[in-house]
Amino acid sequence: MKIAIIGTGYVGLPSGVGFAELGNDVYCIDNNVSKINMLNKGILTLYENGLEELFRHNVKEGRLHFTTSMSEGIKDADLVIIAVGTPPHPITKEADLQYIEAAAQELAPHLTGYTVVATKSTVPVGTGDKVEAIIRKFNSKADVDIISLPEFLREGFAIYDFFNPERIVVGTDSERARQLIRDLYVSFKNTKLLFVNRKSSETIKYASNAFLAIKLNYINEMANFCEKSGADIDEVAEGMGLDSRIGNKFLKAGPGYGGSCFPKDTNAMSYMARQYGVTMPLIDTTIAENDARPALMAQRILSMAGNDAKIAVLGLAFKNGTDDCRTSPAIQIIEKMLEKKANIIAYDPQANISALKILGNKIAYADDAYGAVKDADIIAVLTEWKEFAELDWQKISGMVKQKNIMDCRNILDGNTLKELGFKYRCIGQKPE
Ligand code: UDX
Repeated sequence: MKIAIIGTGYVGLPSGVGFAELGNDVYCIDNNVSKINMLNKGILTLYENGLEELFRHNVKEGRLHFTTSMSEGIKDADLVIIAVGTPPHPITKEADLQYIEAAAQELAPHLTGYTVVATKSTVPVGTGDKVEAIIRKFNSKADVDIISLPEFLREGFAIYDFFNPERIVVGTDSERARQLIRDLYVSFKNTKLLFVNRKSSETIKYASNAFLAIKLNYINEMANFCEKSGADIDEVAEGMGLDSRIGNKFLKAGPGYGGSCFPKDTNAMSYMARQYGVTMPLIDTTIAENDARPALMAQRILSMAGNDAKIAVLGLAFKNGTDDCRTSPAIQIIEKMLEKKANIIAYDPQANISALKILGNKIAYADDAYGAVKDADIIAVLTEWKEFAELDWQKISGMVKQKNIMDCRNILDGNTLKELGFKYRCIGQKPE
């Protein structure tokens, strides 16, 4: 199958590489010339676990192409996937559809033969109708079905999720389009292909992400309770998670959810609901409480650190496994601490460069964790990288100025650290 993917971001690129690995001829299209030039030189433009090897393999096999040309990518394609960004409007927070609409307009004239155009970007309910109207306006003769094919890939695990999806949701009433999608995923024998109408499919994406955000906010609320009551949130979460009706995933308390999806999608869902005159207080409360969490974390770190402290931050990405700092709780916590003129040095295994683009030289950056913690008055763990738990903490205990740790991800072994003389505080445990 010839597949064209418009947009080479965290959704488009891993998906393109994945579809190529399945044996398809994939054209990744982007209007960012420097990105396409880099990809054509064999340089990946983002970090994603396991992506590089598959990228190289499929380029070598001649199944993965990168182009700025719509005509080259779209011509003779069986499937066109729109995977461009839908950033939030700065004030209303509604999803901005300008890139989707531009993609639909630009691709339309190049369609040849029967083509399925699938929207993979997270788009407001009803966007499929808009995309359809644009494509028909700019190519009234096109033999095309416009479907919704939402992505559920987690950053950092996008390749794993691509090859091991729990469900593939397809929004279309067209039997021809359904058959094309069945053919595309023919090797995914154990995966449920759920065919629904286009608006249901668009809603499933928002409903899923908003639900998970509420679940995370719930466990963070419970962590606040544990900090006062003396219960331990990790034990509480383990006990809750053994009930299969609750499930043990997304129960890790932390500094709040971040990234390019949950904050954006909850806000967009709330905006959409208001447009329909529906109130969604569960979602609105979750947004407000999550927004307030970085300030709470910053205040805890600063209160432990004391005046004129050197603060060593471990972790900048919004979660482990990625270099993405978009709406990262770590960045938000740092910004809150900078408002109080904090002196910060940070290290992230993958995200130093992305953080530099946001924070500039307002903080210092270290090349490794040991470089960051040297002479620190407090160490704040803000991203759940496994390598932080595996550091030589005995060595670190001899390098710091004061032995203070605020573990906002509950990934360190508190008992060992206390034995080493550290004052250790984490989420959801009463401070000693
Ligand atoms: C999410 C959805 O999971 C994915 O299905 C969708 O397609 C895109 O949005 P992603 O944004 O990559 O994926 O991150 P995810 O792994 O869901 O984590 C979101 C945030 O929640 C991160 O900041 C993470 O650190 C936090 N989180 C997650 C927790 O604090 N605790 C948890 O138990 C799980």
